[in-house]
Amino acid sequence: MDKSQQDALKKAAGIEAAKLVTDGMIAGLGTGSTVRFLVDELGRRVQEEGLNFIGVTTSRRTQEQAESYGIKIVDVDDVDHIDVTIDGADEVDKDFNGIKGGGAALLWEKIVATNSNKIVWIVDESKVVDTIGKFPLPVEVIPFGAGHVIKHFEDRGYQPVLRLDKDGKPVRTDENNYVVDLHMERIEHPQDLAEDLINTVGVVEHGLFLNMVDTVIVGDPHGPRVMTNSNK
Ligand code: A5P
Repeated sequence: MDKSQQDALKKAAGIEAAKLVTDGMIAGLGTGSTVRFLVDELGRRVQEEGLNFIGVTTSRRTQEQAESYGIKIVDVDDVDHIDVTIDGADEVDKDFNGIKGGGAALLWEKIVATNSNKIVWIVDESKVVDTIGKFPLPVEVIPFGAGHVIKHFEDRGYQPVLRLDKDGKPVRTDENNYVVDLHMERIEHPQDLAEDLINTVGVVEHGLFLNMVDTVIVGDPHGPRVMTNSNK
């Protein structure tokens, strides 16, 4: 699949998911190239159809895009609930275990998701996999002592790589932390790995989102397809 075909599938998933946002809702808005299509569509509906909702964003990038359309954005601590959060994902398996954080927004994404009544992911079909792990697993790490955390991950065979920007400097998250990507290829026991990572001093959060999502909207060449998680 080339990039334009993939973008068409992402866009179709984003437009489909936008239908879930209705007047009066508080909606979590994720981050990434698929969510950009979602926010474009929500912005169009706000401007052309008078859609009236409040957004909580998972990154400053999404906040800027949403506000450029006149979408009202508030802080996650200014709301007592979020009706639905729509976000992208890097991989998802049939047990609804996923990897997120390719765009370095995993910490805010997990906080917003945790406080949402319903979680929806929008992906193109290439993200639906048998076993997660081919996509490097992002881990958000405090800069102080990050070298020791990376060494610890190496000792455990996690194949960590500190994420760098185009100038060779460590990528910084919206919380000014680093991202370490674990090149594990296959994650057979995601729950065990999640526990090990979150119990590592210096780790703020990891990009394993295990059985959190309710619905995945998959951009498929035959039209958006819905996967529903019945185990939640
Ligand atoms: C952001 O940190 C990520 O979790 C994104 O949601 C994820 O990487 C999907 O991004 P794309 O839609 O750009 O593939």
